[in-house]
Amino acid sequence: MSQIDRAVDLLRTGELIGLPTETVYGLAADASNPAAVEKIFTLKDRPANHPVIVHIAEVAKLADWAVISSDRINQLAERFWPGPLTLVLPRQPWVSTAITGGQESVALRVPSHPVAQQVLQRFGGGVVAPSANRFGRISPTRAQHVIEEFGDAVELVVDGGDCQVGLESTILSLVNHAELLRPGSIPVEEIEQLIGEPVGRENRSGQRAPGLLERHYSPRTRAILVPGEQMAALIDLREMDGVKIGVLAFSQQDCGGSRVERLGNDPELYSRQLYAALRRLDHPSIDLILVEQPPQTPSWLAINDRLTRATCPLE
Ligand code: TXA
Ligand code: MG
Repeated sequence: MSQIDRAVDLLRTGELIGLPTETVYGLAADASNPAAVEKIFTLKDRPANHPVIVHIAEVAKLADWAVISSDRINQLAERFWPGPLTLVLPRQPWVSTAITGGQESVALRVPSHPVAQQVLQRFGGGVVAPSANRFGRISPTRAQHVIEEFGDAVELVVDGGDCQVGLESTILSLVNHAELLRPGSIPVEEIEQLIGEPVGRENRSGQRAPGLLERHYSPRTRAILVPGEQMAALIDLREMDGVKIGVLAFSQQDCGGSRVERLGNDPELYSRQLYAALRRLDHPSIDLILVEQPPQTPSWLAINDRLTRATCPLE
């Protein structure tokens, strides 16, 4: 039996699987099976009021889950799906509040990863899939990360290679005014241009999104975000105290440290490698992770968002 067939079988029998998507790996379950959805919350230690994203195979299935209340929804779906955009929309009355965290909205996404596509097409229904990490920890971007997080508790992790995007999807709420709930690889400016309306960036509507909690996506090792020009001096200072420093570098400057992960200055490549690099630095031989701050420009928005949550500011 192929991995895809096994994955679909497991979903049908209410089991959880590790599923690759183009953003990060998901911990997937049949969205129409309340017991299966419950298993996700238990395994992830995720609070029950934190909603999960429903993944569907194609735009045509959107109306099974959400009320299509405006034209901009179709415009966005046609432009960005399959792809790393999640839309938060008014839910259909039959969608379980276990999925929506008790809210009247539901989050939907059509992933583009060929493995996710095949599983969803054969499965037919919706699949809920939060990132396959324990609550608050770093999202997985390769199959081995999921195995490290959950071990035998997940029967099958379908190996789809390294995730191409590497950061979680852009989440856009269209419940009222267009509002960015989580930045991702899709430029907000491109969304604004398409729908001809400004996108709010402050999440004032009070919708809960755990991705918006201050501490999230965190390594266990203490991590600090440091302006580039202060890196070398800070590393010297701490190394004199015998502190073993892990460095997540953006620039080419040589600044010391026991272990250096150099991700470079292209935001696309940086995103793709970020979580794997953070996992490598989050190692018992490292006492402190110093993250060199990237530029504060729009193409680095999602990266800066995740780095801010994964680190403490420099005091
Ligand atoms: O890229 C992704 O989106 C990955 C892959 C696996 O698809 N999934 C993912 O799921 O990141 P998760 O559960 O880690 O993050 C989903 C985010 C959470 O911040 C959640 O609060 C938000 O989506 N969300 C889900 N439903 C929502 C809703 N009805 N209203 C507001 N936010 C919602
Ligand atoms: Mg997550």
